[in-house]
Amino acid sequence: MRVLGIETSCDETGVALYDGEQGLLAHAVYSQVALHADYGGVVPELASRDHVRKLAPMVRQLLEQAGLSGSDIDGVAYTAGPGLAGALLVGAAFGRSLATAWGVPAIGVHHMEGHLLAPLFEAEHPDFPFVALLVSGGHTQLVRVEGIGRYHLLGESVDDAAGEAFDKTAKLLGLGYPGGPALAALAEQGDPDRFRFPRPMTDRPGLDFSFSGLKTFALTTWQQEGAGLDAAARECLRADIARAFEDAVVDTLLIKCRRALELAEVNDLVLAGGVSANRRLRAAMDAMTAARGARAWYPRPELCTDNGAMIAYAGWERLRAGQHEGPGFDIRPRWSMTELDAV
Ligand code: KG4
Ligand code: ZN
Repeated sequence: MRVLGIETSCDETGVALYDGEQGLLAHAVYSQVALHADYGGVVPELASRDHVRKLAPMVRQLLEQAGLSGSDIDGVAYTAGPGLAGALLVGAAFGRSLATAWGVPAIGVHHMEGHLLAPLFEAEHPDFPFVALLVSGGHTQLVRVEGIGRYHLLGESVDDAAGEAFDKTAKLLGLGYPGGPALAALAEQGDPDRFRFPRPMTDRPGLDFSFSGLKTFALTTWQQEGAGLDAAARECLRADIARAFEDAVVDTLLIKCRRALELAEVNDLVLAGGVSANRRLRAAMDAMTAARGARAWYPRPELCTDNGAMIAYAGWERLRAGQHEGPGFDIRPRWSMTELDAV
């Protein structure tokens, strides 16, 4: 079975072809970052309009690249939520229309399920059950994964998501949008011993997170220490704050993941979502799991952030199990992963 996947939940247009026998045939991602940069964040209406412009040419090019035509496709999967309503509508309407035109089934996929399953279509991959840490711009969740669609939420952020905290802190340090990768790069030049930021909610039991205080901590440090400094000293201060912030986020995620592995009594930890691209996070998780005789798994680097491949794969898993939608379509801008049907 060959599935076309479409991702348009936020500011990336992603398309991909997944084949049950041959794996990922082709995929392409177009990032709207430049479009939104001037506004310091994603402008939903601009995002929707750009998905409209990009989707059809991208799917055409994808099919060409794979040497296939519409008649070779057995199903269409699109992101149905969570995400920006207008952006989701573009992908859902387009995906549903293609499926109707081609006479094949369609399915709406949960964006976070896509992230969660992304490491599974590599040749070497973890088996169920495992613990997953989902760290993106919109979500920070720890999930015990029993199988596809069988997700037990162990903990989540009570305020900002980890990626959101990276982006907001980067913005207040003047690093532009999206700030996560820029902040991580700046942190490399920072002194790890100058500041120690708190590790929120680690001194009490439980697996929930809170990241909004760290952003405030960064702002206060920036204001208090930055007054009267020359340009060079300000630059050093900025890097030192970036490093202290990154260390605090990484350490907090690490403590909770270790706890989750103990609680769930499993040895495999999957990290997915944009923040799982963070180098220091990976190094810390690798060391922590290795020390326990466990293992951390990641999607391949280009599939950590939003993409169509993860949607094609998640859709393929569900379509091949016989799940699909009726002739209409629905989007779910807010949608909990625990509501999904098991496969
Ligand atoms: O999964 P994703 O592409 O989109 C959402 O579904 O949200 O995640 C994007 C998030 C952004 O907040 C971005 O700043 C963050 O992932 N991110 C990073 C890094 N690369 C992306 N955060 C920290 N370090 C990175 N290297
Ligand atoms: Zn995402």
